[in-house]
Amino acid sequence: MSFITTSDILKEAEAIRPDFERSVHKLAYEVKGILFSEMLFIEAVARIVGATRLVESGTARGQSTVILATRFPHCPILSYEHDADSPDVAVARARLAGLPQVELCFGDAVRELPRVVTPTDVVLIDGPKGFRAIRLALDLLGYCQPKAVLLHDVGRPSHERAFLESAFPGAVYSDAPEFTHAHHSLDTGVEEAIPLEHRYGANPEQTYGFSVGCLFYEPHIAYRWKRMQASWTGFWTRSCDSIKKIR
Ligand SMILES: C[S@@+](CC[C@H](N)C(=O)[O-])C[C@H]1O[C@@H](n2cnc3c(N)ncnc32)[C@H](O)[C@@H]1O
Repeated sequence: MSFITTSDILKEAEAIRPDFERSVHKLAYEVKGILFSEMLFIEAVARIVGATRLVESGTARGQSTVILATRFPHCPILSYEHDADSPDVAVARARLAGLPQVELCFGDAVRELPRVVTPTDVVLIDGPKGFRAIRLALDLLGYCQPKAVLLHDVGRPSHERAFLESAFPGAVYSDAPEFTHAHHSLDTGVEEAIPLEHRYGANPEQTYGFSVGCLFYEPHIAYRWKRMQASWTGFWTRSCDSIKKIR
Protein backbone atom coordinates (compact mmCIF):
# COMPACT_ATOMS: atom_id res chain seq x y z
CA MET A 1 0.00 0.00 0.00
CA SER A 2 1.34 3.44 -0.81
CA PHE A 3 2.01 5.97 1.90
CA ILE A 4 -1.22 7.59 3.23
CA THR A 5 -0.96 11.16 4.45
CA THR A 6 -3.08 13.65 6.33
CA SER A 7 -3.94 15.31 3.00
CA ASP A 8 -5.34 12.01 1.68
CA ILE A 9 -7.50 11.72 4.80
CA LEU A 10 -8.59 15.35 4.52
CA LYS A 11 -9.62 14.83 0.91
CA GLU A 12 -11.62 11.69 1.76
CA ALA A 13 -13.20 13.33 4.83
CA GLU A 14 -14.28 16.33 2.79
CA ALA A 15 -15.92 14.02 0.24
CA ILE A 16 -17.82 11.91 2.78
CA ARG A 17 -18.71 14.64 5.27
CA PRO A 18 -22.12 15.67 3.85
CA ASP A 19 -23.31 12.06 3.92
CA PHE A 20 -21.70 11.49 7.34
CA GLU A 21 -23.56 14.48 8.77
CA ARG A 22 -26.87 13.29 7.32
CA SER A 23 -26.42 9.83 8.85
CA VAL A 24 -25.25 10.84 12.31
CA HIS A 25 -27.23 14.02 12.96
CA LYS A 26 -29.99 12.11 14.77
CA LEU A 27 -27.60 10.05 16.89
CA ALA A 28 -27.21 11.20 20.48
CA TYR A 29 -23.74 11.47 21.96
CA GLU A 30 -23.03 9.02 24.80
CA VAL A 31 -20.52 9.78 27.57
CA LYS A 32 -17.05 8.26 27.11
CA GLY A 33 -17.73 8.21 23.37
CA ILE A 34 -15.40 9.06 20.54
CA LEU A 35 -16.18 12.54 19.14
CA PHE A 36 -18.04 12.91 15.84
CA SER A 37 -15.07 14.63 14.16
CA GLU A 38 -12.82 11.77 15.29
CA MET A 39 -15.29 9.24 13.88
CA LEU A 40 -15.14 11.06 10.53
CA PHE A 41 -11.36 10.63 10.62
CA ILE A 42 -11.75 6.90 11.39
CA GLU A 43 -14.27 6.44 8.59
CA ALA A 44 -12.00 8.23 6.10
CA VAL A 45 -9.12 5.89 7.00
CA ALA A 46 -11.30 2.76 6.76
CA ARG A 47 -12.55 3.83 3.33
CA ILE A 48 -9.12 4.73 1.97
CA VAL A 49 -7.63 1.35 2.94
CA GLY A 50 -10.75 -0.58 1.86
CA ALA A 51 -11.53 -2.39 5.11
CA THR A 52 -13.75 -5.43 4.69
CA ARG A 53 -14.34 -5.83 8.44
CA LEU A 54 -14.02 -3.52 11.43
CA VAL A 55 -12.78 -4.80 14.78
CA GLU A 56 -13.22 -2.57 17.81
CA SER A 57 -11.86 -2.87 21.31
CA GLY A 58 -13.80 -0.96 23.99
CA THR A 59 -17.54 -0.90 23.31
CA ALA A 60 -18.68 0.89 26.49
CA ARG A 61 -22.06 2.50 25.63
CA GLY A 62 -21.58 1.88 21.93
CA GLN A 63 -21.09 5.44 20.66
CA SER A 64 -18.32 4.54 18.21
CA THR A 65 -19.93 1.18 17.40
CA VAL A 66 -23.28 2.67 16.43
CA ILE A 67 -21.63 5.25 14.17
CA LEU A 68 -19.48 2.59 12.48
CA ALA A 69 -22.53 0.36 11.99
CA THR A 70 -24.59 3.24 10.59
CA ARG A 71 -21.84 4.29 8.19
CA PHE A 72 -20.76 0.79 7.12
CA PRO A 73 -24.09 -1.06 6.90
CA HIS A 74 -22.67 -3.94 4.84
CA CYS A 75 -19.45 -4.42 6.76
CA PRO A 76 -19.21 -6.95 9.60
CA ILE A 77 -18.21 -5.32 12.89
CA LEU A 78 -16.78 -7.13 15.92
CA SER A 79 -16.86 -5.03 19.07
CA TYR A 80 -15.08 -6.28 22.20
CA GLU A 81 -15.83 -5.18 25.75
CA HIS A 82 -13.90 -6.37 28.78
CA ASP A 83 -16.46 -5.50 31.43
CA ALA A 84 -19.46 -7.73 30.76
CA ASP A 85 -21.11 -6.61 34.04
CA SER A 86 -20.97 -2.89 33.33
CA PRO A 87 -24.30 -1.03 33.18
CA ASP A 88 -22.97 0.33 29.87
CA VAL A 89 -23.62 -3.05 28.24
CA ALA A 90 -27.41 -2.62 28.34
CA VAL A 91 -27.08 0.87 26.82
CA ALA A 92 -24.87 -0.50 24.04
CA ARG A 93 -27.24 -3.40 23.36
CA ALA A 94 -30.23 -1.06 23.11
CA ARG A 95 -28.40 1.29 20.74
CA LEU A 96 -27.16 -1.56 18.57
CA ALA A 97 -30.47 -3.43 18.35
CA GLY A 98 -31.49 -3.64 14.69
CA LEU A 99 -27.89 -3.48 13.43
CA PRO A 100 -27.34 -7.18 12.65
CA GLN A 101 -23.83 -6.79 11.26
CA VAL A 102 -22.53 -5.95 14.75
CA GLU A 103 -21.36 -8.76 16.99
CA LEU A 104 -20.83 -7.76 20.61
CA CYS A 105 -18.09 -9.88 22.15
CA PHE A 106 -16.89 -10.01 25.74
CA GLY A 107 -13.35 -10.59 26.91
CA ASP A 108 -9.94 -8.99 27.17
CA ALA A 109 -9.05 -7.61 23.74
CA VAL A 110 -5.36 -8.10 24.50
CA ARG A 111 -6.00 -11.84 24.43
CA GLU A 112 -8.87 -12.02 21.97
CA LEU A 113 -7.89 -9.67 19.14
CA PRO A 114 -4.67 -11.46 18.15
CA ARG A 115 -6.84 -14.57 17.64
CA VAL A 116 -9.39 -12.94 15.34
CA VAL A 117 -7.79 -10.04 13.43
CA THR A 118 -6.99 -10.68 9.75
CA PRO A 119 -5.09 -8.71 7.07
CA THR A 120 -8.22 -7.15 5.57
CA ASP A 121 -9.45 -5.69 8.89
CA VAL A 122 -9.19 -2.20 10.28
CA VAL A 123 -8.88 -2.17 14.08
CA LEU A 124 -9.97 0.57 16.48
CA ILE A 125 -8.57 0.43 20.03
CA ASP A 126 -10.43 2.57 22.59
CA GLY A 127 -9.72 0.43 25.68
CA PRO A 128 -7.19 -0.61 26.86
CA LYS A 129 -5.43 2.75 26.93
CA GLY A 130 -1.88 4.07 27.19
CA PHE A 131 1.14 1.91 26.44
CA ARG A 132 -1.01 -1.22 26.87
CA ALA A 133 -3.00 -0.10 23.82
CA ILE A 134 0.19 0.64 21.89
CA ARG A 135 1.60 -2.81 22.71
CA LEU A 136 -1.66 -4.40 21.53
CA ALA A 137 -1.54 -2.37 18.30
CA LEU A 138 2.03 -3.49 17.63
CA ASP A 139 1.25 -7.13 18.39
CA LEU A 140 -1.61 -6.95 15.89
CA LEU A 141 0.46 -5.22 13.21
CA GLY A 142 3.33 -7.68 13.73
CA TYR A 143 1.35 -10.91 13.81
CA CYS A 144 -2.02 -10.27 12.10
CA GLN A 145 -1.08 -7.48 9.65
CA PRO A 146 -4.42 -5.59 9.58
CA LYS A 147 -4.59 -2.72 7.09
CA ALA A 148 -4.52 -0.14 9.87
CA VAL A 149 -4.82 0.18 13.64
CA LEU A 150 -6.44 3.30 15.08
CA LEU A 151 -5.70 4.28 18.68
CA HIS A 152 -8.01 6.62 20.58
CA ASP A 153 -6.68 8.95 23.32
CA VAL A 154 -3.19 9.56 22.05
CA GLY A 155 -3.33 13.33 22.38
CA ARG A 156 -0.53 15.81 22.96
CA PRO A 157 1.19 16.19 25.37
CA SER A 158 1.60 12.59 26.53
CA HIS A 159 4.34 9.97 26.75
CA GLU A 160 2.33 7.76 24.40
CA ARG A 161 2.12 10.45 21.74
CA ALA A 162 5.83 11.26 22.05
CA PHE A 163 6.63 7.57 21.57
CA LEU A 164 4.36 7.22 18.53
CA GLU A 165 5.75 10.36 16.89
CA SER A 166 9.32 9.22 17.28
CA ALA A 167 8.82 5.51 16.48
CA PHE A 168 6.27 5.94 13.66
CA PRO A 169 6.94 9.08 11.60
CA GLY A 170 4.29 7.89 9.09
CA ALA A 171 1.47 7.87 11.67
CA VAL A 172 -1.39 10.33 11.15
CA TYR A 173 -3.56 12.01 13.79
CA SER A 174 -7.06 13.46 13.96
CA ASP A 175 -5.67 16.48 15.84
CA ALA A 176 -3.68 17.63 12.80
CA PRO A 177 -4.51 21.36 12.66
CA GLU A 178 -5.87 21.13 9.11
CA PHE A 179 -8.23 18.34 10.13
CA THR A 180 -9.51 19.91 13.35
CA HIS A 181 -9.91 23.28 11.63
CA ALA A 182 -12.05 21.70 8.92
CA HIS A 183 -14.10 19.33 11.09
CA HIS A 184 -14.28 20.38 14.77
CA SER A 185 -17.67 21.91 14.00
CA LEU A 186 -19.09 18.37 13.87
CA ASP A 187 -18.73 18.36 17.66
CA THR A 188 -20.87 21.45 18.19
CA GLY A 189 -23.24 20.60 21.02
CA VAL A 190 -20.97 18.04 22.69
CA GLU A 191 -18.19 20.43 23.79
CA GLU A 192 -19.02 19.69 27.43
CA ALA A 193 -17.59 16.20 26.93
CA ILE A 194 -14.21 17.74 26.03
CA PRO A 195 -11.89 18.90 28.84
CA LEU A 196 -11.47 22.71 28.77
CA GLU A 197 -7.82 22.65 27.71
CA HIS A 198 -8.64 20.32 24.80
CA ARG A 199 -11.44 22.41 23.30
CA TYR A 200 -10.93 23.99 19.91
CA GLY A 201 -8.54 26.94 20.06
CA ALA A 202 -7.94 26.59 23.83
CA ASN A 203 -4.21 25.92 23.63
CA PRO A 204 -2.20 25.25 20.48
CA GLU A 205 0.26 23.05 22.45
CA GLN A 206 -2.53 20.65 23.36
CA THR A 207 -4.56 18.33 21.24
CA TYR A 208 -8.10 19.18 20.15
CA GLY A 209 -10.45 16.57 21.61
CA PHE A 210 -8.95 13.23 22.59
CA SER A 211 -7.16 12.47 19.32
CA VAL A 212 -7.09 9.33 17.22
CA GLY A 213 -3.74 8.13 15.92
CA CYS A 214 -3.48 5.80 12.95
CA LEU A 215 -0.72 3.29 12.22
CA PHE A 216 -0.94 1.79 8.73
CA TYR A 217 0.50 -1.67 8.20
CA GLU A 218 3.87 -1.37 6.45
CA PRO A 219 5.65 -4.66 5.67
CA HIS A 220 9.16 -3.26 6.15
CA ILE A 221 8.56 -2.18 9.78
CA ALA A 222 10.03 -4.45 12.51
CA TYR A 223 6.95 -4.41 14.72
CA ARG A 224 8.35 -6.83 17.27
CA TRP A 225 11.34 -4.59 17.84
CA LYS A 226 9.07 -1.51 18.09
CA ARG A 227 6.94 -3.45 20.57
CA MET A 228 9.99 -4.02 22.76
CA GLN A 229 10.75 -0.30 22.56
CA ALA A 230 7.15 0.48 23.58
CA SER A 231 7.41 -1.87 26.58
CA TRP A 232 10.65 -0.27 27.68
CA THR A 233 9.39 3.31 27.16
CA GLY A 234 6.16 2.54 29.02
CA PHE A 235 8.09 1.06 31.95
CA TRP A 236 10.57 3.95 32.01
CA THR A 237 7.96 6.74 31.83
CA ARG A 238 5.81 5.06 34.53
CA SER A 239 8.86 4.76 36.79
CA CYS A 240 9.88 8.41 36.24
CA ASP A 241 6.32 9.58 36.95
CA SER A 242 6.22 7.54 40.19
CA ILE A 243 9.55 9.00 41.33
CA LYS A 244 8.32 12.55 40.60
CA LYS A 245 5.20 11.88 42.71
CA ILE A 246 7.28 10.62 45.67
CA ARG A 247 9.48 13.75 45.55
C1 LIG B 1 -13.62 4.97 26.58
S1 LIG B 1 -14.57 3.55 26.67
C2 LIG B 1 -14.96 3.18 25.00
C3 LIG B 1 -15.92 4.15 24.40
C4 LIG B 1 -16.52 3.71 23.08
N1 LIG B 1 -15.51 3.36 22.11
C5 LIG B 1 -17.43 4.79 22.55
O1 LIG B 1 -17.06 5.53 21.61
O2 LIG B 1 -18.52 4.91 23.10
C6 LIG B 1 -13.39 2.29 27.01
C7 LIG B 1 -14.00 0.90 27.17
O3 LIG B 1 -12.96 -0.05 26.97
C8 LIG B 1 -13.17 -1.14 27.80
N2 LIG B 1 -11.88 -1.86 27.94
C9 LIG B 1 -10.80 -1.51 28.69
N3 LIG B 1 -9.82 -2.42 28.56
C10 LIG B 1 -10.29 -3.36 27.69
C11 LIG B 1 -9.74 -4.57 27.16
N4 LIG B 1 -8.51 -4.97 27.52
N5 LIG B 1 -10.50 -5.30 26.31
C12 LIG B 1 -11.75 -4.88 25.94
N6 LIG B 1 -12.32 -3.75 26.44
C13 LIG B 1 -11.60 -2.99 27.29
C14 LIG B 1 -13.66 -0.49 29.10
O4 LIG B 1 -14.34 -1.44 29.92
C15 LIG B 1 -14.55 0.61 28.56
O5 LIG B 1 -15.88 0.20 28.47
